Amino acid sequence: MYKCKTFMLATLLVLGSASIAQKKVIATKKTIDQRVDSVMKLMTLEEKIGQLNQYSSKDEVTGPMSDNGSRKQQLVAGKVGSMLNVRGAERTRKVQEQAMQSRLRIPLLFGQDVIHGYKTTFPIPLAEVASWDMQAIEMGSRIAAIEGAAAGLHWTFAPMVDISRDPRWGRVMEGAGEDTYLGSMVAKARVKGFQGTNTGKLDEMLACAKHFAAYGAAAGGRDYNSVDVSERTLWEVYLPPFKAAVDAGAATFMNSFNDINGVPATGNKYLQRDILKEKWGFKGFVVSDWGSISEMVDHGYVKDKKDAALSALSAGSDMDMEGQAYLPHLATLVKEGKVPVALIDDAVKRILRKKFELGLFDDPFRFSNEAREQQQLNNPQHRIAAREMAEKSIVLMKNEKNILPLSKNIKKLAIIGPLAKSEEDMLGFWNVAWPDNSDVVTQYEGLQNKLGNNTELLYAQGCGITDTSRAGFAEAIAAALQAEVVIVSVGEARDMSGEANSRANIHLPGVQEELLKAIHATGKPIVVLINAGRPLVFNWTADNVPAILYTWWLGSEAGNAIANVLLGDYNPGGKLPMTFPRGEGQIPIHYNYLNTGRPSPDNDTHARYRSGYIDMVKSPKYAFGHGLSYTTFTYSNLQMSKPTLAANDSIIVQFTLTNSGKVAGEEVAQLYLRDEVASVVRPVKELKDFTKLMLQPGESRTIRFVINKEKLSFYNQQLEWAAEPGTFQLMIGSASNDIRLQSKFELQ
Ligand code: NOJ
Repeated sequence: MYKCKTFMLATLLVLGSASIAQKKVIATKKTIDQRVDSVMKLMTLEEKIGQLNQYSSKDEVTGPMSDNGSRKQQLVAGKVGSMLNVRGAERTRKVQEQAMQSRLRIPLLFGQDVIHGYKTTFPIPLAEVASWDMQAIEMGSRIAAIEGAAAGLHWTFAPMVDISRDPRWGRVMEGAGEDTYLGSMVAKARVKGFQGTNTGKLDEMLACAKHFAAYGAAAGGRDYNSVDVSERTLWEVYLPPFKAAVDAGAATFMNSFNDINGVPATGNKYLQRDILKEKWGFKGFVVSDWGSISEMVDHGYVKDKKDAALSALSAGSDMDMEGQAYLPHLATLVKEGKVPVALIDDAVKRILRKKFELGLFDDPFRFSNEAREQQQLNNPQHRIAAREMAEKSIVLMKNEKNILPLSKNIKKLAIIGPLAKSEEDMLGFWNVAWPDNSDVVTQYEGLQNKLGNNTELLYAQGCGITDTSRAGFAEAIAAALQAEVVIVSVGEARDMSGEANSRANIHLPGVQEELLKAIHATGKPIVVLINAGRPLVFNWTADNVPAILYTWWLGSEAGNAIANVLLGDYNPGGKLPMTFPRGEGQIPIHYNYLNTGRPSPDNDTHARYRSGYIDMVKSPKYAFGHGLSYTTFTYSNLQMSKPTLAANDSIIVQFTLTNSGKVAGEEVAQLYLRDEVASVVRPVKELKDFTKLMLQPGESRTIRFVINKEKLSFYNQQLEWAAEPGTFQLMIGSASNDIRLQSKFELQ
C-alpha cells in the first residue's frame, strides 16, 4: 500500500506539471544519484539528521541500551534511519509501517549481526577459515544472507576482518585469524557471499566490514582496549583486509571502539576520511560501533556528547549506532556553524543511496515476505552446506598410530565430557538467538545417527565446563572402562569467546583436564574433541592423548560433521588460521615474526643472551597452517622458471604434490617467502599463496604459483609499497613449521 509513495512524493515536487505517466517514465530514467538528490531537496535538516540515527530494538540486545525515549514516536517523526535487532518478516514489516507514517516515508534499513548463519548456523568464522576454502566460505555467507534477507533484513554487520595475534581476545572467533594475506582473501569471499550480485536482489544483504581499524590489536587481548600500532604495522598487517573488502564492493564499514595511538577510531579522520573515503574511494557509509560516538567522552577525547557528535561526523562516521549523540546535537552544531551542512548531506546521501540500491524506495516491504521466509528458513540444502562447511573446518591436530578414523565395527564406544550432549554451545557466540536450539545435532546424536545397531554408544558427562566438582568422574571412568575407544569432548562454553569475552587464562576451563587424566589412566585409547572459539592451551592433553580433533564451534550440523570425521566418512583437511601458544606468556604470538638481532633456537630455553624465555621454549604448541589428514602427502620436484626476476617480470614455481597414503584427501599447500635483506627488516616467513586440492591415493598433481613484484613488495622506510632488489627465500610446505621444499631467487 505504501509502495512508491516516498519516491512519488519526491518526484512530484521536482517534476512539476508533468503527467503521472510521464513522471513514471522520467522517474525510471533517473540515476540513483538523481533520485537521492530529489529526496534530499525535500528534507529538513532534522529529517536528514534522522537518517544518521540508528536504534536497536529491545527485542534483542547486543550492547548497553541507552534510554532514548519512545522509538515508535521517533520512527513516526522521521528521526530514525535504521534499526538493528528487529528481525523476521512480520516484525520488520510492522516496524517499517511505523516509519512509513513519517512525513517523507523514507524506508528504514534493518541491520543485524548475521555473522555465521541466520537460522542455519554455520561454524564460527574462525573455524570456517580453517578450511582455507574460499568457495565454501563464500557459500557460508551466501546462505546466511539468503536466510537473513528472507527474514526481512537488509544489512549484516559482517564480515569482521580484524587480524589478531592474541587468542585471549574473545573476538578472534569472529575473524579470519592472524594472517593478513589469508584474512584478505577471506574478507573478499565473505563480502561477495553476503552481497551476491550486489544489485539489491531479495537474497542479498549489504555487508559491513568491521571494525575499522586495528580493533584486533587491543592491548593485552582485553576487549575494547587501546591499540598502539606503528604506521607500518597498521598498513602492513591490519589495513589490507579492509582494502580487500572495499575492492570486493563492501557496501558499508563499521568503525571500532578502540583508540588507535591515542585517537578513538570513531573520531579518527585519518582512518575514515583520508584513507577509507579519499584514498580508497569508498562510496558506501560508515556506521559507528554501538555507542562508540558517545564513548569518546569516556575515552577522554571529547568533553560531552555534543563534542562527540562533532568529532565523529567531522571524522567521517556517517551513522550513529545507539549513541544518542547525532540526533540531539547535530542540528545545534549546524546552527552554531561548527558542522557544515555539506558534511551532513554527504552522510545522508551515502545512506539514501543504499536504500535506493536495495529498492526500498520502490517497495519498503519487499524483503518482508512471510512465505519466502518460511521457505528459505527451512531449506534442507542449507543444512547440507552447513554440514559440509563444518567438516571442512575440523583440524586433525594429532593422530598417533592412526587411531583415527575409528572402525565402524567397534562394539562399545563411549563419548564423555561436558560438550558431548551440548546443543547451544555448538552454535558458538553470535548465533542468531532462537527460542530453542532443538535443531542442533549434538555430538552424541551425530554418532548415534551414524553408528549401526552393532555399536553401543555409552555416555557420561564427567563434569561441567567450568565445574570444580569431580563428582561425575566415577561414572565417566566406569563408562570408559566398558568401551573399546573413548571420545572425550571438552572445551569452552559458547559465551567464553565472542564480544566482551576475553580470557586471561586460555587453558581448558574447570576440571576438564583432570577428567582427561582420569580417563587416560584407564588405559583405553582416547580421542579428544576440543570445542572452542579460540586457540586454547592444553599441553598435557597434547602430550599424552593419541588423537585430537579441534572442532571449534561447528554450528547446527556439528554432531553429524564430527561423526563423519571420527568414523572416516570425511577425511579432515583443516589447517590452523592462528598459532596455538604453549602458555599465555608467549602472547602475542604469530608465525610471521621478525628474526631480531639475537634469535633463539625454537626449542631451547638455555640459549643465553638470546631472544627467548628461560622458562618456556619460544616455539608454539601448534603452528599456523598446521593440520593433519588420514592420508599423507609428499612434496617433490621443485622447479623455478628462472633464478632471477626483473622488476616487472614473474617467476613460475612448480612442484609435484602426491597423495602417498591409502585414502583420498585434501591438502593445503602453502607458499611462504622471506626477503633476506631489506631496508626495513622483514618477517622470517610470510604466507603469499596457497592451493587446496583433493588427491586420490597415489595421485600426483603439479601445482604452480606465480611470484611477481606484488608478492615481494612491502612498505619501505618512506611507507611506499615497493619491492627491493636482493635474495628471497622460497618455502613451500604443509604448515608454517613444516616446510617441505625450499629454494632461493633474486629480484634484480
Ligand atoms: C558491538 C560489536 O562490536 C559489533 O561488532 C556489533 O555489530 C554491534 N555491537 C551490534 O550488535
